[in-house]
Amino acid sequence: MTDLAKRGLFVTIEGGDGAGKSTQAALLEEWMVAEGRTVLRTREPGGTDFGLEVREIVLHSRGHITDRAEALLYAADRAQHIATKVRPAIERGEVVIQDRYIDSSVAYQGAGRVLDGSEIRRLSEWATEGLAPDLTILVDLDEDLARDRLNIAQKRFDRLEAEKDDFHRRVRESFLSIARKEPERFLVVDGALPPLEISALIRARLAPLLSSPGR
Ligand code: TYD
Repeated sequence: MTDLAKRGLFVTIEGGDGAGKSTQAALLEEWMVAEGRTVLRTREPGGTDFGLEVREIVLHSRGHITDRAEALLYAADRAQHIATKVRPAIERGEVVIQDRYIDSSVAYQGAGRVLDGSEIRRLSEWATEGLAPDLTILVDLDEDLARDRLNIAQKRFDRLEAEKDDFHRRVRESFLSIARKEPERFLVVDGALPPLEISALIRARLAPLLSSPGR
């Protein structure tokens, strides 16, 4: 099939730590595979071998990392990931389900670290040569509930998760504000709902995209 005859689909999932993104990514993958699609499920940071090394530095480095260095590390991970894995998969007509993308940098490095959000977005757009998602699912959850979930899971907190509540409040607000500005790209779901209800909302939103001409 030619590129024009079959278009891939690029879906990103965003939200704070503990909101339930990974569960939704897994459920979405199951559904897409059942629909007969070829799926690449991936994540940032750490979707490539290079990215796994970057992930280790950015999440677990013991020394201090400056805000701008942190922003550049996420952008470097993203550049490698999009060029070598994601763009080729989309060009083959596959469905890419990706845990976190540019909006995470705008929310965490922009609003969280208080860098200029539009500069952060531009940096990532340069890194990815402007690849935009067809749909972004924001799993929104109150930051206190999200923290309780992480505590219950007894996960070792990484550098970002260990940030104060105020940081996570700014991150959540930033995600919601991006979603308000781009309603056609976003589906915002309430992360407090049962996982299967959330996944039904996601399927309902994706169904027309999947049946559009060429897909
Ligand atoms: P993630 O892999 O979702 O965390 P986990 O596997 O521990 O649930 O993301 C790792 C952390 O990186 C998360 O706290 C958010 C942060 N992050 C940024 O700060 N900026 C970014 O651009 C991305 C992609 C993630």
